[in-house]
Amino acid sequence: MVATTFLLLLFATYAKAVTVYSQQPLRETQVLAGTATNSANPAAYTGYKAYDPTTLQPPALPNPLPPTQFGISLQPAANQVTGLSIPQSGSFLGISIETSVITQVLGINSTYIQVPFLNLIQLIVERAGRFQIRVGGNTQETARLTDSLADHKMIEKQGIDPNNPTATPALVYTMEMFYVLANISALTNVQWYLGIPFNDTANFALEIAQYGEQILGDKLLGLQVSNEPDLYARHKKRVDTYTQFDFFGEFGDLIKAMEANPNIPLSNNLIGPNIATGDWTPEMVWDTGFIDAYKNNLHALAVENYPDDNCAAIYTDFGPPKNPQDVFPLYLSHDGENASKSMIRKYLNSTAVAQAAGKPLMLFETNTASCGGFMGISNSFGATLWGIDHGLQMASSNFSGALLHIGGQDVYYNPATPPPTGQSTFNEWTIGSTFYSLIAVSEAFGSSNQSQIIDITQNTYQPTYAIYDKGNLARVALLNFMTDPSGNNDYTVSISVGGQNLGQANAVPASVRVKYMLAPSISELFNITWAGQTLGGKFECDGRFKGTETIETVPCDQGNNVCNVKVPAPGFALVFLNDDALQDSSPTETATFATTAVTRTMNTATADPAALQTSNGHGGGDRLIGSTSKGSTGSAGRAAGVIPSVAALVAFLAGVSVFSRALTR
Ligand SMILES: *[C@@H]1O[C@H](CO)[C@@H](O)[C@H](O)[C@H]1NC(C)=O
Ligand SMILES: *[C@@H]1O[C@H](CO)[C@@H](O)[C@H](O)[C@H]1NC(C)=O
Ligand SMILES: *[C@@H]1O[C@H](CO)[C@@H](O)[C@H](O)[C@H]1NC(C)=O
Ligand SMILES: *[C@@H]1O[C@H](CO)[C@@H](O)[C@H](O)[C@H]1NC(C)=O
Ligand SMILES: *[C@@H]1O[C@H](CO)[C@@H](O)[C@H](O)[C@H]1NC(C)=O
Ligand SMILES: *[C@@H]1O[C@H](CO)[C@@H](O)[C@H](O)[C@H]1NC(C)=O
Ligand SMILES: *[C@@H]1O[C@H](CO)[C@@H](O)[C@H](O)[C@H]1NC(C)=O
Ligand SMILES: *[C@@H]1O[C@H](CO)[C@@H](O)[C@H](O)[C@H]1NC(C)=O
Repeated sequence: MVATTFLLLLFATYAKAVTVYSQQPLRETQVLAGTATNSANPAAYTGYKAYDPTTLQPPALPNPLPPTQFGISLQPAANQVTGLSIPQSGSFLGISIETSVITQVLGINSTYIQVPFLNLIQLIVERAGRFQIRVGGNTQETARLTDSLADHKMIEKQGIDPNNPTATPALVYTMEMFYVLANISALTNVQWYLGIPFNDTANFALEIAQYGEQILGDKLLGLQVSNEPDLYARHKKRVDTYTQFDFFGEFGDLIKAMEANPNIPLSNNLIGPNIATGDWTPEMVWDTGFIDAYKNNLHALAVENYPDDNCAAIYTDFGPPKNPQDVFPLYLSHDGENASKSMIRKYLNSTAVAQAAGKPLMLFETNTASCGGFMGISNSFGATLWGIDHGLQMASSNFSGALLHIGGQDVYYNPATPPPTGQSTFNEWTIGSTFYSLIAVSEAFGSSNQSQIIDITQNTYQPTYAIYDKGNLARVALLNFMTDPSGNNDYTVSISVGGQNLGQANAVPASVRVKYMLAPSISELFNITWAGQTLGGKFECDGRFKGTETIETVPCDQGNNVCNVKVPAPGFALVFLNDDALQDSSPTETATFATTAVTRTMNTATADPAALQTSNGHGGGDRLIGSTSKGSTGSAGRAAGVIPSVAALVAFLAGVSVFSRALTR
């Protein structure tokens, strides 16, 4: 039993001034939260993009139509299969959070952590064992530690030097940032990637490395060195003639600086080259001798990429804005223009290069489209299915992990969005459709770290994968990108295992279990269910599934060695071929963090009664709405360099605050 504890959290003001950067071709991470919407979107909706209700038309059915029935014949054991991926873990998909928005997403400080977000993380942790989060982006480059900021803030963007209009604003942060991360990791198994500022290679700011390592310990997985260096010259962050060879040199300078600094425990946890794969190819970096020269310092290799951008909707010099309705179909197939398969083709040599070097290769920042994503696409069920195919495709191509980016309120693609400033005490979170992709991929691989996947797709609208776990066939993942409420384009896969055509005994089980990801249409924004449960609509998400979990049982025909599994249009089906496979992917127990909101005025009740009544079928009875008596938070002392233990935290909280526990399965 996990005794879970909770803080009741509140959100104070963290409104940021409007920041309009420049007309440079900015990358995703420079489109920050809280900026006023300056979209050219002609639709009537003018609020934050994260809540834009616009729904697109589902694209027309393809012509010719794909088959409504096909067979797959699978070997029972992994060692009988050629082309299986390297072993993958259920934490394959994680998230990336732009440094400047962590206050909104993670919490204001170590005593005000976002409980709904903890619950969401916990959903993955209980399936995969852990969750990976990168805190970084362009603002990491100029981040500097400061002793304190006004109003207990832990992070603040500072103005742009008027003489240097293309610069990213500097970011200052306090030690509190490390404590927030440490306290989150004490509550649920989050492991972090942080970024070392790389704007000044003559005088490196190494506090992120020093305190990150000292305070987070083994919860710090790695340190990203530089962000998108292939765009440095284009973005005037370096001289125009800056090349991959200059980068190679600077990377070496950083290692020297870290090794010379007695306060930095480790320098073997670096991640590079983090190119946007814009102005340089990965091979241009590999060919400098990067991997060989720095192998002792490299934890992982990484790149960053999006299949498309929507910059024309924000900036004037990107040509005519793209019409989302026209772009939508490009995401809705296995190997079409914006499908994962097309996007990662350019990395297939690099996944082999990385494997030969014995290093993981990660996609450190990705999502449907940079510059905020596309209205009605990035937040649709289409993005859920795209994200599942993206995750499974990367894994089958021997990436070792990928991180979906979270911007702020004014992007379409967040896996989850906190309530806007000023409404945070009244509203709950808003789930993004790609959060369901995280859940699906975590269950596709489960908790063993020994899942191997292979892409066996026959038709582009019906992506198909087989997953082996601990050496045996365990799961089959099936997607249907079409929308057809008539049911005429549902398809049926006839799965056979072993059997005569493979010269073996029939090996289908008596029955298989199936979990479905469903929505009425590919355009749907919120009515998405996973095994019958949903995370809710706009401002409805407390981080817990609502509704009753339904796992289908599909009987197989052992005499004919076939299990027929139906995949609705649209939909995703995860087929579990044995109990072990299901168990490895299932939450052992769901420990949730009590969720509520408290006003920033003491003693004013504010919990949303509707949310309390509907969450997970539990009434308000199993959780306590806590007091926020003065002095109940932030009063305990802390020691720098001390990693919190759950026990200490529990003790701390027990004395002063509120706790509750809800078991939900
Ligand atoms: C790097 O960023 C810091 C913090 O914003 C700034 O003080 C410093 O001047 C920058 N250095 C260079 C070389 O741009
Ligand atoms: C976690 O937060 C509490 C409250 O601020 C604090 O007392 C404790 O020291 C924190 N833990 C760490 C390691 O910062
Ligand atoms: C793969 O990358 C390596 C290292 O950059 C390069 O030497 C090799 O030519 C590449 N192979 C292909 C097929 O691109
Ligand atoms: C995604 O689609 C756009 C057209 O909107 C195209 O320019 C881009 O190359 C596509 N991306 C990939 C990876 O094919
Ligand atoms: C992934 O790696 C495995 C093991 O080396 C290999 O057999 C397989 O072909 C690779 N897959 C791809 C798509 O490169
Ligand atoms: C999976 O890998 C992670 C990271 O290396 C490790 O912490 C965890 O214990 C592993 N899980 C199992 C079941 O081996
Ligand atoms: C949600 O979608 C399901 C089909 O997936 C449908 O039966 C149900 O009526 C929808 N609910 C709402 C509120 O639209
Ligand atoms: C966290 O923020 C709240 C609200 O601004 C403040 O009251 C509290 O003292 C802060 N705690 C810490 C540890 O800074």
